[in-house]
Amino acid sequence: MTQDIHEPKPRRGLLDRHATLERNATLLLVGSFLVVTIGGIVEIAPLFWLENTIEKVEGMRPYTPLELAGRDIYVREGCYVCHSQMIRPMRDEVERYGHYSLAAESMYDHPFQWGSKRTGPDVARVGGRYSDEWHYDHLSDPQSVVPESVMPKYDYLARTRLEVTHIGDLLETHAMVGVPYTDDMIANARDDMRVQVDPWGDTDGLLERYPGAQVRDFDRNPQLTEMDALIAYLQMLGTLVDFSTFIADDSR
Ligand code: HEC
Repeated sequence: MTQDIHEPKPRRGLLDRHATLERNATLLLVGSFLVVTIGGIVEIAPLFWLENTIEKVEGMRPYTPLELAGRDIYVREGCYVCHSQMIRPMRDEVERYGHYSLAAESMYDHPFQWGSKRTGPDVARVGGRYSDEWHYDHLSDPQSVVPESVMPKYDYLARTRLEVTHIGDLLETHAMVGVPYTDDMIANARDDMRVQVDPWGDTDGLLERYPGAQVRDFDRNPQLTEMDALIAYLQMLGTLVDFSTFIADDSR
């Protein structure tokens, strides 16, 4: 048998050429650097020309002083350890909790409350799902309404008067980090907080400053308590954006 030693060499394929790159550490390093640089520019550069990466939506407004105080209690009590506030656009989540969360919905949250663990359900759209009475009973003694619940009792909130002296400063602090609280809102913070739990109060100013704010005695106790603030906050969650007018811009 003879062997044809003059058989033409196969053409060098792309893979062979790539092998050169893989065998030369310096060349590989330079190549990787180039690829990462180009990728980085493509991702980052457009952000310099975009004014805002948050989609504009109807209805989003800064939290009322009472809701903001409730939010502080939510943070203080560590509710975020067991509850997320971020509904992902997956079908199982959307069917269970409602429309997926929009960036605009947490644009006034400092810090945001997306959370990273769901021992309990997501609460991003819990507003309006239960009555104030249910929340009162549930927060005071979760097992009284959901026997298998592992949520701790927060009954002391109903017995703790809400601290009102610092609310103006709290609004001002949020204004400093970009929440559009006006001087008018800051000056009226204390009154707005009181009047939101007073169904017979003069709520015109409050409603003008915070359209759609829910006014009522959230804990059926004429005193302003931490329970009032927390329930006001929970009942507002996920209710600000009017989703009947929201059309997702999926073209991006
Ligand atoms: C140890 C974890 C844990 C902590 C901390 C916790 N929860 Fe819960 N929460 C749960 C679990 C579990 C459930 C589901 C069972 C139930 O309804 O009690 C739940 C349910 C809820 C629900 C009802 C949600 C729904 O859609 O049915 C609300 C509202 C709620 N929690 C609010 C709070 C608030 C406010 C705080 C902080 C004051 C808090 N939770 C702290 C575990 C926790």
